[in-house]
Amino acid sequence: MRVVVTGGAGFLGSHLCDRLVESGVEVICVDNFFTGTRRNVAHLMGHLNFELIRHDITFPLYLEADRIFNLACPASPVQYQFDPVQTTKTSVHGSINMLGLAKRVKARILQASTSEVYGDPEQHPQTESYWGRVNPIGIRSCYDEGKRCAETLFFDYHRQHGLGIKVVRIFNTYGPRMHLDDGRVVSNFIVQALRGQDLTIYGDGNQTRSFCYVEDTVEAILRMMDTESGFLGPVNIGNPDEFTILELAQAILRITGSKSKIVFAPLPQDDPRQRQPDIALAERKLDWSPKVGLEEGLGKTISYFRTLLA
Ligand SMILES: NC(=O)c1ccc[n+]([C@@H]2O[C@H](COP(=O)([O-])OP(=O)(O)OC[C@H]3O[C@@H](n4cnc5c(N)ncnc54)[C@H](O)[C@@H]3O)[C@@H](O)[C@H]2O)c1
Repeated sequence: MRVVVTGGAGFLGSHLCDRLVESGVEVICVDNFFTGTRRNVAHLMGHLNFELIRHDITFPLYLEADRIFNLACPASPVQYQFDPVQTTKTSVHGSINMLGLAKRVKARILQASTSEVYGDPEQHPQTESYWGRVNPIGIRSCYDEGKRCAETLFFDYHRQHGLGIKVVRIFNTYGPRMHLDDGRVVSNFIVQALRGQDLTIYGDGNQTRSFCYVEDTVEAILRMMDTESGFLGPVNIGNPDEFTILELAQAILRITGSKSKIVFAPLPQDDPRQRQPDIALAERKLDWSPKVGLEEGLGKTISYFRTLLA
């Protein structure tokens, strides 16, 4: 079994590579290192089942594979807004290239989609049947609409070419190997707390998020890839436990023992008020639900950042 992981040197991708290498399959990690780093997969280098290729998926790729996990795409607003045209290209051209590859070699292919396809939702929690409320011309659109178009492409390749596809919609995931300074709320707060800086909350802090620990997310992605061919998704992957941003900041201050203060700044454009997955489908189809609670997950993530900052 040969498995391709695009975006494999990123946060989620590197944990997925770990699990795949552990399981004994051959792994080809494809990454252009835009937001990923070799450091994330350094421990896998030299492993007989692991290969790393520098490649931008907006260009075609030719290799043999049985399965493709398509994770390549910057995932935090700071990074995907840095070069929004390239972000859309990664989702759209990148998906076309990876779907083309899957079609040629008859591989099964999974798309890492996102809860952002729901935009600023009117339905709470979000089920997979909800079509979303997305601004097509805002500063987040390169990511949201790119991912929506990628889902369309996946389903059209399935309908038109009979390709074996799987689509997961991932909600906020956190854990070791998150970027130090990409502005995502968990890493932001942890780094600020560990450096003794003020924790910045955008808005009043009453907006809610649900946070899934990386091990749980990766387990669900692997289970989805293995489901029977008739089940395509999309399926929500996330932790339904909901916390306000203020509660998250307070938990991080408590666990780190930091003396940092909480300060408030204006909310950025199109920032969703609430985001919570309905995971009934994942529970039913993948026999999966998250196992790691926020305190435990934050503890492991904080240890990682402590080491990194030291
Ligand atoms: N982490 C989350 O909370 C979350 C939530 C929803 C969806 N996702 C999705 O999961 C995937 C992985 O996210 P992540 O959090 O690990 O982000 P990440 O930025 O750590 O990983 C993305 C990886 O893709 C690579 N990449 C970007 N553009 C590329 C291109 N054109 N060609 C080749 N490689 C490219 C980057 O270098 C990086 O290694 C993304 O598709 C993201 O949209 C993540």
